[in-house]
Amino acid sequence: MSKILIIYSSVHGQTRKVTDYLKQQLESYGNEVTCASIDEAPALDVFDKVVIGASIRHGKHNPAVYDFISRNINQLSDKVSSFFSVSLVARKPAKNTPETNPYMQAFLAKTTWKPKLLAVFGGNLDYQGYNAVDRNIIRFIMWITKGPTAADTKVEYTDWDKVSQYAQQLHQL
Ligand SMILES: Cc1cc2nc3c(=O)[nH]c(=O)nc-3n(C[C@H](O)[C@H](O)[C@H](O)COP(=O)(O)O)c2cc1C
Repeated sequence: MSKILIIYSSVHGQTRKVTDYLKQQLESYGNEVTCASIDEAPALDVFDKVVIGASIRHGKHNPAVYDFISRNINQLSDKVSSFFSVSLVARKPAKNTPETNPYMQAFLAKTTWKPKLLAVFGGNLDYQGYNAVDRNIIRFIMWITKGPTAADTKVEYTDWDKVSQYAQQLHQL
């Protein structure tokens, strides 16, 4: 049994949803799991494993994620740790692994943290949940990348079996 902390950075709730699912899975393996948003993360001392999950917005992970990592780099490096990224680009089979996902590669290039386990998950698309500017930007990106552009589109691209496998790997770390 491990004490696991999962820290999430989520704007529309999908990374939070992945976090809640991981918590449920990891608890079913007997772990004690705490979830916290990046702005309210507790001190890392008491945890055996630390996981950070963040979504992509306009091509970037939340800067608060990098701030948190640089403030806690020593502890993160000493502990068993993992990072996962959630984005719409990751819906594409050619971009849904840590090695092939451009946002994960950009993340790794930008930090000295070397998490032991990495994962990439497809996110949620819900045009009606965005303001008009964001909706049009994302519709344009989806049009370029041959995704759905109908204004009422609501699709969850998260592969929950893949999230379950990740939970199992986290448990075994
Ligand atoms: C304003 C906005 C900008 C986004 N920009 C990107 C992007 O540049 N690349 C991408 O792959 N996905 C992008 N997405 C998709 C999100 O990463 C996806 O919806 C994810 O599920 C959001 O997770 P969250 O709800 O935890 O924030 C964007 C979504 C929004 C709302």
